Amino acid sequence: MSSAGGQLIKTERHGKAGLIRLDRPEALNALSDALMAELGAALVKFDADPAIGAIVVTGSERAFAAGADIREMKDRRFPDTFRHDFIAAHWDILLGVKKPIIAAVAGFALGGGCELALMCDIVLAADTARFGQPEINLGIIPGAGGTQRLTRAVGKAKAMDMVLSGRMLTAEEAERANLVARVIPAAELLAEAIKLAEHIAALSPVAVAMAKQAVNSAFETTLRAGILYERQLFLSLFGTPDQREGMAAFLEKRTPRFDQG
Ligand code: HXC
Repeated sequence: MSSAGGQLIKTERHGKAGLIRLDRPEALNALSDALMAELGAALVKFDADPAIGAIVVTGSERAFAAGADIREMKDRRFPDTFRHDFIAAHWDILLGVKKPIIAAVAGFALGGGCELALMCDIVLAADTARFGQPEINLGIIPGAGGTQRLTRAVGKAKAMDMVLSGRMLTAEEAERANLVARVIPAAELLAEAIKLAEHIAALSPVAVAMAKQAVNSAFETTLRAGILYERQLFLSLFGTPDQREGMAAFLEKRTPRFDQG
């Protein structure tokens, strides 16, 4: 394991898993522009690094992130917010990351914190996790996918409940609602997330990246266009050495050695 640090995040490497810890405990990891800029830069760096195959984003035991920074947003005014769109500037960078991002969520994941988890590809929740979109209590609404990605994940009934009331969901309720993939005892969360990232990192990088893109396209296009996109990606994988290696290894009853270059 090696580690490095910015002001507001810390990064570590666990084999081929890159770990990013949000590290602003005094504000429950409130997602200021500076924190999001550091997070974006760390994600881009891991994404470009051939020694990394998957990325884990986590917070502290108490909070994954308690939302965008209210202190920073308090004095923002329209139309400046429109001209200098802080979400476009600091959040959309996540959408370009090709490698899988696993959110390991313990404690509060509220507002932008819940939306950040939803921008990741797999959400693992500690049994201590609490998810919510409390923006309505501040006289605003979610702005980084909390009315869109959340609704596609959990459906209208739960999304309306969360967005209109600001109510928090427990980890168990979030799992039942399809907001998270798995609930894990808090003490095991990070180890489990890193294990999952290392598992994915040992697979074919090109197949993993295409799998991520294909699933994401299900949320961004019509079924017909999505099926056609999936088919093109699927067929194109037959041009890769990893497809030959994966199938040969299965038939020879051995572990495949995918091209990690
Ligand atoms: C700035 C925050 C913060 C936030 C907590 N803090 N959340 N600062 N922005 N989102 C700060 C508090 O002001 C306090 O600082 C310290 O963190 C500890 O928080 P407490 O409130 O004292 O802790 P606790 O009583 O345990 O309550 C925890 C909590 C509460 C339930 C999570 O902090 C809370 O309700 N936070 C706000 C949650 C929220 O509304 N999120 C949505 C934000 S809007 P001091 O200095 O007093 O010690 C949003 C829009 C996204 O996310 C749009 C897209 C980008």
